[in-house]
Amino acid sequence: MYGQFGGQYVSDGLKIRLDEISKNFEEIKKDPQFKKEYFDYLRDYVGRPSPLDFATRLGDYCGCKIYLKREDLNHTGAHKINNAIGQALLAKRMGKTHIIAETGAGSHGCATASACAMLDLKCTIFMGKEDMLRQAPNVKRMQLMGAEVVEVTRGNSTLRDAIDEAFDYLMNHEDVFYLIGSAVGPEPYPEMVEYFQKIIGEEAKKQILETENRLPNAIVACVGGGSNAIGIFSDFIDDKDVELYGIEAAGKGIDTKMHASAMSENNISIMHGMKSYFLPDGNGGVRDAYSLSAGLDYPGIGPKHAYLSSINRVKYDSIEDQEAVEAFKLLSKLEGIIPALESSFAVAYAIKLAKTKTKDDIIIINLSGRGDKDLDLILNN
Ligand SMILES: Cc1ncc(COP(=O)(O)O)c(C=O)c1O
Repeated sequence: MYGQFGGQYVSDGLKIRLDEISKNFEEIKKDPQFKKEYFDYLRDYVGRPSPLDFATRLGDYCGCKIYLKREDLNHTGAHKINNAIGQALLAKRMGKTHIIAETGAGSHGCATASACAMLDLKCTIFMGKEDMLRQAPNVKRMQLMGAEVVEVTRGNSTLRDAIDEAFDYLMNHEDVFYLIGSAVGPEPYPEMVEYFQKIIGEEAKKQILETENRLPNAIVACVGGGSNAIGIFSDFIDDKDVELYGIEAAGKGIDTKMHASAMSENNISIMHGMKSYFLPDGNGGVRDAYSLSAGLDYPGIGPKHAYLSSINRVKYDSIEDQEAVEAFKLLSKLEGIIPALESSFAVAYAIKLAKTKTKDDIIIINLSGRGDKDLDLILNN
């Protein structure tokens, strides 16, 4: 548990599966052989360490020093592969032969499909019908890598519904490992995803100390469920002078209710087996989120983020669709880097935040993914 947040709010049947995962996760944390294998894959297959790129033109535009943690350069184009490799190796060690996963933007689906192909595991990806349309190139990629993509039509056919479908499937199939893609869900998932993503922050800290000989003033990351954000924050949480910003999607505006900012409505609920902040539907349930970005279209937030907010360690704020689209175009023009639409929410916020900084201050933006998958969406917006 993270304070009052997190937990394992699941049926007895699902608890049996989760207990098996917890037990094995505790074992691999102590196993140097597992760590070596994982880090070898991160180096040779994923291409880590990802660079910490000094973005001079964006910095000049903003009026302070901006560094980009280039998760977009990872194999399959986003941070999701760090976690996919880790969990797939764990599944293999547990003797599982069939991996299932949910995906919104398709980044996690592609990362999982890729890890499964490489490790010779059967792969099934659940994806909302709406997201399959928005992120069509990634559907084709997953299929090419041998994954079966199952269209989810329940609810409003997005990420939330794909997660529900995956948990139902896990419950009914013993040979299956559910490789969750964000820092959400019942224990041990949020902790496990943080464990496999914290490499982002560990590298960034080493890199900024080597380059600048000091820590950054601020770190900004976008938040869907919260895996890239917790990945870069994790190693800086005890460095109290480093400001941490988690940026949710404000959609068409927080006041319109057409958004995905769980933090903005201060409502604690239980969904997907965890207690955290979720968008209220007015009847005690959780309403659907809205975001132009498929990867941020989640009505809740991971429990560690809820906790970090409750102790005032991380500030959570939001950016509207249109601001993110402008940041997407700006970064492309200024730096020749086309960011994922999700990452563009962090870029847009950093540009605003820079106005409160001096020219020698340092902001690190976690560039969680690349934007090839979003070109049609942006060009038609
Ligand atoms: C590139 C990219 N960034 C960020 C996210 C948001 O997920 P999370 O909050 O787990 O990092 C996604 C989700 O699909 C994504 O594809």
